[in-house]
Amino acid sequence: MGKVIIAPSILAADFSRLAEEIHRVEAAGADWIHCDIMDGHFVDNISFGPEVVRLVRKETSLPLDVHLMIEHADRYVPRFVKAGANSITVHVEPEADHHVVKTLHQIRNAGCRAGLTLNPDTPFQMIEPLLGKFDMLLVMTVHPGFGGQPFRADQMEKVRRAAKWNQSREHQFDIEVDGGINPKTAQISVENGANVLVAGTSIFRSNDYAKAIRELRGE
Ligand code: DX5
Ligand code: ZN
Repeated sequence: MGKVIIAPSILAADFSRLAEEIHRVEAAGADWIHCDIMDGHFVDNISFGPEVVRLVRKETSLPLDVHLMIEHADRYVPRFVKAGANSITVHVEPEADHHVVKTLHQIRNAGCRAGLTLNPDTPFQMIEPLLGKFDMLLVMTVHPGFGGQPFRADQMEKVRRAAKWNQSREHQFDIEVDGGINPKTAQISVENGANVLVAGTSIFRSNDYAKAIRELRGE
């Protein structure tokens, strides 16, 4: 696959000046903007909803990568499509409470790229029957809910398995990692086969976004 895609997570941005943060990170070389949606049920935190995604859409032409950490994702997909999402990723865990195959179809039929993700404690076998039915696999490298947690290297086995599956196929999916990504763990992730890196803290809590992004690319 081509170059590594950097997707800053605005969860770590300064929300009191969100528009400026988005302009800064775009000028710094971000490829996508990652939007973390949390409902206080599927994960123990509440972030923001479609209205904020709509405001982000107005500020940038970069692809918006929406990560739904919510119950009943299927109920909310249309609102995030309307808000301007380019890709929508849903969780495979039963607690997410939706029919995963149907939701992936729903996302694709709405003209978005469909992503599937799994928590660190969820085995790879859960997504194995769905390989080929999505455009991106997000391997969570922290338990979802909060930014600033340490990277879990034990999740690299999932990245390797996904990359191996990809090798044997004509239509490859993106392999994204999310949680605790810094220059060191970015390198580990890419070596194992990831091509999309989500990073919140290591970009938005740095003084120089362009430098932070270059370092994530290994430059
Ligand atoms: C975690 C979110 C991540 C998070 C990453 O639940 O899905 O996108 O914002 O933040 P950092 O890079 O700080 O681990
Ligand atoms: Zn995320």
